[in-house]
Amino acid sequence: MKNILGIILFVLGFNCVFANTNLNLRKLAESKGIYVGTAIMPSHLEDSKLVDLLTNNFNYLTPENHLKWENVQPAKGVFDFSGADKIVNFAIKHKMRVRGHTLAWHYQNPPWLASLKTDKEEAKKILKNHIMNVVGRYKGKIADWDVVNEPLDENGRLRVNLWNVLIGEEYIELAFRWANEADPNAKLFLNEYGVEWFGAKADAFYKLVKSLKEKGVPIHGVGFQFHIDGQYAPEPVFVAMNIKRFKELGLEVHITELDVRLRGTPSERAIEQQARIYSELMKVALAYDIPVYVTWGVTDKYSWIPSFFSGYGYALMFDDQYKPKKAAFAVSEVLAGERPKKSLYEDSDTESVIKRPLPPFRASKAKKVPIIDGEINKGEWDGTYAYSLMYNQLDTQDRKSTR
Ligand code: G3I
Repeated sequence: MKNILGIILFVLGFNCVFANTNLNLRKLAESKGIYVGTAIMPSHLEDSKLVDLLTNNFNYLTPENHLKWENVQPAKGVFDFSGADKIVNFAIKHKMRVRGHTLAWHYQNPPWLASLKTDKEEAKKILKNHIMNVVGRYKGKIADWDVVNEPLDENGRLRVNLWNVLIGEEYIELAFRWANEADPNAKLFLNEYGVEWFGAKADAFYKLVKSLKEKGVPIHGVGFQFHIDGQYAPEPVFVAMNIKRFKELGLEVHITELDVRLRGTPSERAIEQQARIYSELMKVALAYDIPVYVTWGVTDKYSWIPSFFSGYGYALMFDDQYKPKKAAFAVSEVLAGERPKKSLYEDSDTESVIKRPLPPFRASKAKKVPIIDGEINKGEWDGTYAYSLMYNQLDTQDRKSTR
């Protein structure tokens, strides 16, 4: 009996240690002078277990949805700051830094705005009024702003979003100038995905940012989102080289929306690879004095991934039971260790990395030739693999992933 009780107590204790997750990433991060952040929703603050995780591990918050137009200005001229206020006040109470996300985006706009047809001057007025109100309200409280989000399409062309259509490409610099006018001390960022290492889109992003700097636009940095498919680990050397060129423009680079999605029930190998991705990025961040490392959510319980990428999940550092995963332990180890040096990347033989064979896409032959007619008929694609395509790869056409 005594033994059984002992075992029960041991298991309970063991679980508590994990449930409590006193990895204390926050303390470790502070010892290295980096902010470790996460995206959250106001409702998460009612979840006491989540609040525990938050306060122990993070010192930086991004409202995941509550500073987007659809929440902040649901009707023309009507502002609702209730959600954002909850998060900002929580952050202030817990001495956390806040990122404002976002002032101009092609998505999550209220219907009145998404269907707006007006002339350029009126569109400018609407955008300026929004920015002055929102940035102005949080003057001195929100330190970093994603002023413009995802300005490029998949090919690196300027996205044909509502602001580009109504105002023209000038909307980007105007948005920065107005945000700067509303809070001259806030740091202003251009935030983008698919630009984290080299490629056509990263090069286009670099050109765009460089031209903004050259025009004297008040831009202080870039946000690399880092929504990663765990099957395709970024090469740390390339990430480092990319960060280096943006820093050489005199800009800060922030990691703004990191998650590493895995397909199905992840294998041990996939979980280890995920931990490697999280920790390698923390290493690069420390080596290049990246001041901000934000994951897009705390636990898998609230992650956006499963509802956008069907069949994927397990993307964050804490699982849906709030337990830290290998990724969290790996990140804490990096934070507790010696600061990695730039030479780790800059002295490495990039040529051989470039020539390294890339893991191939899994490919297999369809059993019969499918007819591409917009219809998926029964059995037509049997034997093939499906790769998820995301809504924002299709602009606003489709919100969910397709398979
Ligand atoms: O607000 C409604 C709610 O009233 C309704 O009950 C509920 C039921 O589905 O839907 C709620 O809205 C959802 C909202 O998240 C809040 O949960 C939207 O349908 C859903 O589309 C929205 O998804 C957000 C997504 O942006 C939209 O693009 C995700 O939470 C959010 O994580 C995600 O974040 C973006 C970044 O802002 C920019 N970078 C990419 C990143 C991931 O897509």
